[in-house]
Amino acid sequence: MPPSSADADRRDGHSEREIDLTEVDDFVRQHHAENPDLGPVAGRLAEVHAEIAATGTYRHTEAELTFGARVAWRNSARCIGRLYWRSLKVRDLRDVSNPKAVADECVEHLRLATNAGKIRPVITVFAPDEPGNPAPRIRNEQLVRYAAYRGSDGGVMGDGRNLALTDLALARGWQPPRTRGPFDLLPLVVEHAGEEPALVELPRDAVLEVPLTHPELPWIGKLGLRWHAVPAISNMLLRIGGLDYPAAPFNGWYMGTEIGARNLVDHDRYDLLPYIGKRMGLDTSSERTLWRDRALIELNRAVLHSFEQAGVTITDHHTESVRFLTHLEKEEAAGRRCPADWSWIVPPVSGGLTPVYHRYYDTDELLPNFRNAPPPGDGGTCPVAH
Ligand code: ARG
Repeated sequence: MPPSSADADRRDGHSEREIDLTEVDDFVRQHHAENPDLGPVAGRLAEVHAEIAATGTYRHTEAELTFGARVAWRNSARCIGRLYWRSLKVRDLRDVSNPKAVADECVEHLRLATNAGKIRPVITVFAPDEPGNPAPRIRNEQLVRYAAYRGSDGGVMGDGRNLALTDLALARGWQPPRTRGPFDLLPLVVEHAGEEPALVELPRDAVLEVPLTHPELPWIGKLGLRWHAVPAISNMLLRIGGLDYPAAPFNGWYMGTEIGARNLVDHDRYDLLPYIGKRMGLDTSSERTLWRDRALIELNRAVLHSFEQAGVTITDHHTESVRFLTHLEKEEAAGRRCPADWSWIVPPVSGGLTPVYHRYYDTDELLPNFRNAPPPGDGGTCPVAH
């Protein structure tokens, strides 16, 4: 078949994808069913149908947007921290789509979420995709990302996860600090079809960071290790009632293992265990000494200790596992299913010590939800990423 103009549209990011009416109806009904105060659903359904017939899309009410964003969190099968899904603060910035304005509001998001260390779960929802008018995209995986630089020896300084983002920022004219370090903040990169892309540095005072120290090992405090306080995912697409919000950064607070057992430890991230093990004087000549495990525990103690000392909200995997089971019980009592992905829920340290390890979970995907956003310019469907 010859390429149709619809194909061309799709390649240009101007997807004319039809809205899924079943999904629209399911969402509007769910919103009313879970909020009986809203009264009968028929009126709202008729209104939405008329709007879609006239414009090809519809606009969520503020209440729908707030409910949809909170339920998207509730349905996030990989998240262990869902007990507080109702507390999510939803910032309605659907009228913002200019890249510079989006970036500036991402900075404001960080300030609101940081709250001097008493982290608040926040989502900022920017303009949705509309027929013929794709939404803005944030290219950063999270609002706070550390740069990665390739050395001449083939090694990497910084967070290896962000090599591609660092390259993109450099290609767009980003100037790294004169002395490059392992924890250089990358700028926000925001794009919107037909507008000048934005490259915006995060103001230092908008990014709270915690220097790592250890309760008993003073040398750990001298390594210059640090991590940022707010994990704010910014490249996932929020899907509510048939609408896509590709720019909708959201955050909770950290669980220590994310930093102490993954970010600072994965081979393609900071890969710190060999160094920590040696500095601890452990016998690293054989795996059987469990030197990795011992170094890992001390690194995780350092993370929890440092955040606590700094007055920054953080949780540990034991506490959070018990909370998650409380959440499951509550959801069950409310007559709802709660999908969960065992391989993401079980913490990467001491899995079997936590109650979440010892059971199976519902795995059906539910909507509203988050999914990985397709790259800009790709208006096609995107698979749920793994
Ligand atoms: N694991 C990611 C990180 O280490 C963050 C994912 C979301 N985590 C959260 N606690 N809300 O940065």
